[in-house]
Amino acid sequence: MDRIRIHGGVPLKGIIPIGGAKNAALALMPACLLTEDTLTLANLPHLADIATMANLLTQHGVALTLNGESGNGDACGRTLDLSAANITSTTAPYDLVRKMRASVLVLGPLLARFGQARVSLPGGCAIGTRPVDLHLKALEQMGARIVLDGGYIVAEAGGRLKGAHIIFPQVTVGGTENLLMAATLGDGETVIANAAREPEVADLAYCLVAMGAKIEGIGTGTLRIQGVERLHAARYSVVPDRIETGTYAVAAAITRGDVELVGARFDLMESVTKVLTDCGAEIQETPRGLRVKADAAEITGTDIMTEPYPGFPTDMQAQLMALLATAKGASMITETIFENRFMHVPELMRMGARINVHGASAIVRGVPRLSGAQVMATDLRASVSLILAGLAAEGETVVNRVYHLDRGYERVEEKLAACGARIERIKGEAAE
Ligand code: UD1
Repeated sequence: MDRIRIHGGVPLKGIIPIGGAKNAALALMPACLLTEDTLTLANLPHLADIATMANLLTQHGVALTLNGESGNGDACGRTLDLSAANITSTTAPYDLVRKMRASVLVLGPLLARFGQARVSLPGGCAIGTRPVDLHLKALEQMGARIVLDGGYIVAEAGGRLKGAHIIFPQVTVGGTENLLMAATLGDGETVIANAAREPEVADLAYCLVAMGAKIEGIGTGTLRIQGVERLHAARYSVVPDRIETGTYAVAAAITRGDVELVGARFDLMESVTKVLTDCGAEIQETPRGLRVKADAAEITGTDIMTEPYPGFPTDMQAQLMALLATAKGASMITETIFENRFMHVPELMRMGARINVHGASAIVRGVPRLSGAQVMATDLRASVSLILAGLAAEGETVVNRVYHLDRGYERVEEKLAACGARIERIKGEAAE
């Protein structure tokens, strides 16, 4: 299994390109199941999670063509054609779903177009139990009959799903996406209240509109969908990844560097840029994206609470914790989305960070310098927070179990090295 070795202490200077958003792509790809025509997705990132979704769709019978070549598992690159004209199976098997929770996003579209779906229940994961009960209750409100059988969600619609008024008791990104896709082919109007407003949900909605769906309220907490009988072909480009953007913004700040993030969408970054500015970094919108400058900054502590969009994203919490571990003064980080998302804390502490966790909050007392260590990643964002800490630390840091990193960050070591970081991937030989 690969490891990443870093010699810290180099201020990053230069340009980092930002790719398409993983979480948007993971919702856009299953949208192809809603039509027999071809959906073309551009700006797809090259990531392990995208390959997992490509495998799952292939297994349902979707034909994938990457940049003119036919492919399956490795079909993740810049532009991908997805054709669900000949679906051969409506079952999403355990082996693929357990690798990635977002696999459950095939449920809504399969049920809407074929009136049936059998999807393995995603299990727990490193950051909490993460049930899908809200997805299922909402689909039941649209007339689906759902039973759990042998670890599978077995859903049947017996014809078209019916429009319904759905109020999510809690904001759920995946739940909103599943329902939105299902409702596009429903009979009549569906209203989704307390819908997730994440830009990735809006991206899915805009793509569905390009496919012929009728959706109002995109980007707001109330989505109104008039079901149509069929959707058609479309070409759509995936929104830039705001979490990748935020992660490299922290890389610039934690190394007291100066980096331009090219291709980033400044307008989607407000909660993150506010926190970084409060800490003392300078952030400017540029014609190509945004620039983060901290070479003359004294980074100071601040308090953060994770919230649904437009609040501060839980997917940036671990990265900010690494930064605040090097800031002047104390900070409090409160995690309100996932109950077990402080797994990076003991690893950061191995690098000299001073952090106390009390329930859903962590007090971080900044230290002048972290020190390099051998550390282990437990999930995607935790692993990148250890890379960030390593970039700032004195001496050598080795991050183990980087397969988590490859799920969500494309060529991370190349992008950082191009800005001067001393970072390398050590291939294979080491076990985790
Ligand atoms: C998505 C993102 C993930 C991000 C999260 C929150 C993708 C592929 N993943 O995950 O990176 O961290 O949004 O922004 O887009 N919940 C329930 N029952 C449900 C559904 C959710 O209790 O049926 C709970 C979850 O356990 C969690 C909270 O609701 O505590 C929010 O989860 P949700 O927004 O659904 O996250 P995901 O869509 O899984």
